Amino acid sequence: MSGSGLAQVQSISCRPQHMSNRIDQSGISEFYLPERKRQRNRLRDLTSKLSHLRTIVLPGAFSRMLRQVQPYSMMGYARLKGIHNGVQSVFARSIDGDLVECGTARGGCAALMRLTAKRCRDDRTLWVYDTFEGLPRPTDDNPDCELALTREKTCLGEFDEVEALFKSLDVLDGRHMIKGLFQDTLPETTPDRIALLHLDGDWYESTHVCLDHLYDKVSTGGVIQIDDYGHWAGARKALHEFFGERGIEADLKYLDCSGRQFVKP
Ligand SMILES: C[S@@+](CC[C@H](N)C(=O)[O-])C[C@H]1O[C@@H](n2cnc3c(N)ncnc32)[C@H](O)[C@@H]1O
Repeated sequence: MSGSGLAQVQSISCRPQHMSNRIDQSGISEFYLPERKRQRNRLRDLTSKLSHLRTIVLPGAFSRMLRQVQPYSMMGYARLKGIHNGVQSVFARSIDGDLVECGTARGGCAALMRLTAKRCRDDRTLWVYDTFEGLPRPTDDNPDCELALTREKTCLGEFDEVEALFKSLDVLDGRHMIKGLFQDTLPETTPDRIALLHLDGDWYESTHVCLDHLYDKVSTGGVIQIDDYGHWAGARKALHEFFGERGIEADLKYLDCSGRQFVKP
């Protein structure tokens, strides 16, 4: 399919049911799945909705944290649960490194990372990167640039608001908040080692620059979650392109219609 045809299809939100969970070196050619697999993905989303209901009916530690952070996050249950499980998993497997989020907005997910770590009695540093001025202007490297342009400056979370959230949840310690464009800040300030990397910058160039600067710092066995794989064609393109450039094969775990997670091979 031509690039423009693909852009039209992928600019419709929540098209990821069409997409393979298996990384393919050629990327785009594997995006379309047979109806049978699409149905399987719909069933997966239903499973996560049922888990969410169970969390509400039978509250536990995670549901308490969820209640605290969800008003400050654009992420749904499955992706927040993915982050929670990811932090627990790197802790349980003693994976070396810090926790990093690129694209923080109002800070809900970042706060969940710290709350989960705290509950594990794990004092890893949290690094959060954002303009804290909303989404930058997308470039035409994004296949769905026309739609993306309508979102410029949205998803705004302010630096002080995120600090205030961390303070109210008693997770101010051990965090670095780096304000500015990833393109400017990542070449200057990054952790030495990363155990969990959350990529939530929506656009092609935002995702690509994070992979360029941070992927090699993620420990083998570390967890990488990408929030916009299903929602934004640019984020998906950046991931596939990066894997293609590096010859990396990884199994993407389906979280929900947009989120994917994988363990660094
Ligand atoms: C969808 S929001 C993040 C949502 C957040 N993780 C949550 O829990 O709600 C995307 C964020 O990425 C940031 N962002 C995108 N591209 C960026 C870039 N190139 N440099 C810095 N921040 C960027 C935007 O400012 C925005 O706050």
